Amino acid sequence: MIAPKQITVTIDGQKCVGDEGQTVLQIATANHIYIPTLCYLKHLSSWGGCRMCIVEIAGSPKVVPSCATPAVDGTNYSANNDRLRQLRRLTLELLFSERNHICPFCPTNHGDCELQQQGYRHGMDSVRYPYLYPALPVDTSGEYFALDHNRCILCTRCVRVCDEIEGVHTLDVAFRGEKNRVVVDLNGTFGASDTCTNCGACVAACPTGALFDKAAAFRGKLNTCQVVRTTCTECPVGCGLLVFTKENRIVEVFGDHDSKVSLGHLCARGRYETWAVPRERIVQPMIRTIHALKPVSWQQALREIARIRGKLDATQTALLVSPRITNEAAKAVARVAARFGKVGMFVARDESALCEAGTGALEGTNSLSNADAIIVLGAQPSRTHGVLAAKIRNAVRRRRAKLLVFHAHKSDLDQHADICANIVSLEHVFWDRVAEALKNVKRPALVYGAAAMTPIGVTVMARLIQILESNPSRHAPVLIPLPTSTNSQAVAAAGVEPVEDVAPWLDAQPLQYLHIIASDEPDGGARLFEEKPVRVLLERIDCVVVQASYQSELTEAARIVLPAAMWSEKSGTVTNIEGRELPLQSVLTPRGEAREDARILGELVS
Ligand code: SF4
Ligand code: SF4
Ligand code: SF4
Ligand code: FES
Repeated sequence: MIAPKQITVTIDGQKCVGDEGQTVLQIATANHIYIPTLCYLKHLSSWGGCRMCIVEIAGSPKVVPSCATPAVDGTNYSANNDRLRQLRRLTLELLFSERNHICPFCPTNHGDCELQQQGYRHGMDSVRYPYLYPALPVDTSGEYFALDHNRCILCTRCVRVCDEIEGVHTLDVAFRGEKNRVVVDLNGTFGASDTCTNCGACVAACPTGALFDKAAAFRGKLNTCQVVRTTCTECPVGCGLLVFTKENRIVEVFGDHDSKVSLGHLCARGRYETWAVPRERIVQPMIRTIHALKPVSWQQALREIARIRGKLDATQTALLVSPRITNEAAKAVARVAARFGKVGMFVARDESALCEAGTGALEGTNSLSNADAIIVLGAQPSRTHGVLAAKIRNAVRRRRAKLLVFHAHKSDLDQHADICANIVSLEHVFWDRVAEALKNVKRPALVYGAAAMTPIGVTVMARLIQILESNPSRHAPVLIPLPTSTNSQAVAAAGVEPVEDVAPWLDAQPLQYLHIIASDEPDGGARLFEEKPVRVLLERIDCVVVQASYQSELTEAARIVLPAAMWSEKSGTVTNIEGRELPLQSVLTPRGEAREDARILGELVS
């Protein structure tokens, strides 16, 4: 790649070096010169609409928006002087007078409203224009966030992030003059939108209180919160989180822009589901009496387990774990494995081969942005791996990558696909059409899920690889396996056998004792209980111990229940689909008497 030509400009008397093509704002920022902005957001295209970032060019009477003006070699710019400050204050006064910015009643009046900050910065102690006091609608129909048009400054950051990062273009701007408004789809609502993925990127991008998270509203001021950097464990993409907490509860969650995996983006599961959706926690150990589960101390629970296990031979016992456990807990499982007749990890149908095949290439997910063809085989990333789906949509929509989707189920990716075929009827697919579509491809990526491990999926994968290999000028395809559970590949690598069919696994040898580590499975491990044969077999086992964060039908059926720490209470590491070992930082102290999985296991066998 040819390095861009360097240019030198002067900003506020300071010589600044930058690259040809960079804007005045980019060069000023890189050289530590502050220029106020409102509609500009790094990682998004420039819009140049708010006029807060105006600068003067020596010799010209005009001011120009620095975020949208490419710097010219040898030019002298003024970014901060009295005239510019007056003009910026005037812009702010107009913005404040246009809509209803009544800060004390705004959920974003907690230290991160950029409009308010600019008001203070520019000494805006009064507004010299008449307030319009519009009575605009407030859309509270969305599941996690709301849009109050009365606080919107029409900066279009939400519109651009929805289009350029999430890649769905749910939002746009409609109407003219003072009726100008952000609209959802064709002037609908968030609640009725079938394009909005609830990723919350628009909320994170909004510089005012127009878009706000419902669960976070009035929970606490962000500028008085502790901020902890950790990893989302809802799926194996492993996005970076910035978790804001106060008094041992989560106030709000944002994407971590320093994350090499997600670059600040999140999906609805990572941003909201883990904390904004109430779940019934298990807060202390419990032992079943004749009538119900009765709270006991840890000592009593561990003593009871030791008493029961003491009467049994190891072959009559088994340990079944969730793939969501940390790498450290997986090692603890491997250490205690000899004390059990058998040890397994429950995984989704057709996923064991995916777990055992190991992780994909490092930088695999980021390489999607350079891919010129993406094949999605037997996976539904829009449903299961939201941020990866956003990367695929962007590669297709913005960089014109080809998309080929082979799956039995419909997904939103279908509408972007050059070829879309049902995996079960692939025998009838016109393979020459596929070959034609992949003919001149140089940097292909193959994203494959559990259905690619079925006999038909394996046949299709082999055919696709054969077609790709027949093109001599292409690079080897980047392979991105997509198991649905967070850490299944690392737990399998620690030596824990993946188990798809739990019923035959349980039935293979008569068990008297089964310890299930459901960990922080969102359903408390209930998915095990859903299958009737498993339910029947569990009922036959004398003692079922369930270690879980949340109550479920499974815990209701257990003889002993142990409270496990949830994602925000754990420390350690998890390994993502690219093989990156990502840190998990404990954000909150565990609720009640909950303990981390590895610690509980250690205490069980000590
Ligand atoms: S939540 Fe995501 S998809 Fe929905 S409007 Fe906002 S940015 Fe777009
Ligand atoms: S809702 Fe927020 S981000 Fe969107 S245009 Fe209005 S102020 Fe800007
Ligand atoms: S894509 Fe996966 S890791 Fe990323 S935020 Fe969504 S659930 Fe979490
Ligand atoms: S930040 Fe440059 S015009 Fe808005």
